[in-house]
Amino acid sequence: MSSLLSNHCNQVLVIGCGLMGAGITQVIAQAGIKVIASDRTEADLKRGEKQILKGISKKAKEKQEVILSNITFTTNMEAGKDSDLVIEAVPEKIEIKREVFKKLDQLMNPNAILASNTSSLSIADISSATTRPEKVVGLHFFSPVPIMRLLEIVRGINTSEETIQFSHLFAEQIGKQVIVANDYPGFTVNRVLVPMINEAAFLVMEGNSPEEIDRGMMLGANHPIGPLKLADMVGIDVLLNTLESMYDGFDDSKYRPCPLLKRMVEAGHYGKKSGKGFYEYETRRETVHAFN
Ligand SMILES: NC(=O)c1ccc[n+]([C@@H]2O[C@H](COP(=O)([O-])OP(=O)(O)OC[C@H]3O[C@@H](n4cnc5c(N)ncnc54)[C@H](O)[C@@H]3O)[C@@H](O)[C@H]2O)c1
Repeated sequence: MSSLLSNHCNQVLVIGCGLMGAGITQVIAQAGIKVIASDRTEADLKRGEKQILKGISKKAKEKQEVILSNITFTTNMEAGKDSDLVIEAVPEKIEIKREVFKKLDQLMNPNAILASNTSSLSIADISSATTRPEKVVGLHFFSPVPIMRLLEIVRGINTSEETIQFSHLFAEQIGKQVIVANDYPGFTVNRVLVPMINEAAFLVMEGNSPEEIDRGMMLGANHPIGPLKLADMVGIDVLLNTLESMYDGFDDSKYRPCPLLKRMVEAGHYGKKSGKGFYEYETRRETVHAFN
C-alpha cells in the first residue's frame, strides 16, 4: 500500500461485473493497472468477461493479451483486499450497497478508498455503513464506459479533500476527464440532462412527434443526439428511477416524472434494450416508428 504516499493507484478491486463493472474493469486494465473483477457467480463473471473481450476485440492480439493479463476474475472479493481503491458497481439498491460497503470496510486496508458508481443514491448514506466515511467517494462513470470521456467525482458530505485528490489522479491514470459534483440527487450531469428528457417526454404526451423533437434539439441546440433517442439508449426505466430520486430528494414538482414515462415502463417499453421505447428497434436495424 505505497500508493497513498505516491498517490498512485496500483491495483483496483471492482465489485459487480455487470454492464458498468465490466466497462470499468476494461478501462482500468487498458491503463495498465491491475484489476480484480468480482461478482457473485462464475456465470456473472463469464458474462462480464465476454463484454470485455468484445470491447477489446479490435485491438492487436498482443495488446489484448496484455490487457487481459491485468485482470483477475473471481467470486471471492477477498482476492482484492490489498487494492488501493475499490469501485462498487452492484445494482442500484441502497440495502445492497450498504451491505457491500460494510463488508469492504472490514476487508480492506484502512487506507483504501471506497468508491461507488451509483447514479442516484446518496454517497453520505452509503458511507455511513463504514467506519471511514472520509474515504468514501462517488466515481460516476457513464455508459459505455470505454467510450464516454467523463468521470463525475461525487463529493459526499464527509469525503475528505485527500480522497477527492486521489480520485483526480486516478481519473488521470485511466485517461478520463473529470468534474466534481456535490452529493445531491442527479449530481451534475443527470440533474441537467434528465429534466430535459422529461420535458421532451411531456412534449410527446402532448402529441408532438419524437422525430421532430429530436431533430429540433439536434439542429436548434446543436446536440449530437436527440433527447428521446438518448432516453431509449439509457433505458426508460433507469431514467424514471433517476427522476423519482430527484423528485423525492428535492421534494420539488419541477422533477415530477412525466406520466408517459411511467406508462412506458409499465408497458415494458424500456427503450433499445426491450426493442421499443420512443422508437422501435430490431436486432440489427432501427426503424423509425415513433411511440405515441
Ligand atoms: N447502466 C448505466 O447506464 C449506468 C450508468 C452509470 C451508473 N450506473 C450505476 O452502476 C451500478 C451498476 O449498474 P449496471 O447497469 O452495471 O447493473 P448490472 O445489473 O448490469 O450489474 C450489476 C452486477 O452486480 C452483481 N451483483 C449483485 N449483487 C452483488 C453483490 N452483493 N456482490 C457482488 N456483485 C453483485 C450482479 O451479479 C451484476 O453482475 C448501479 O449503481 C447503477 O446505478 C449505471
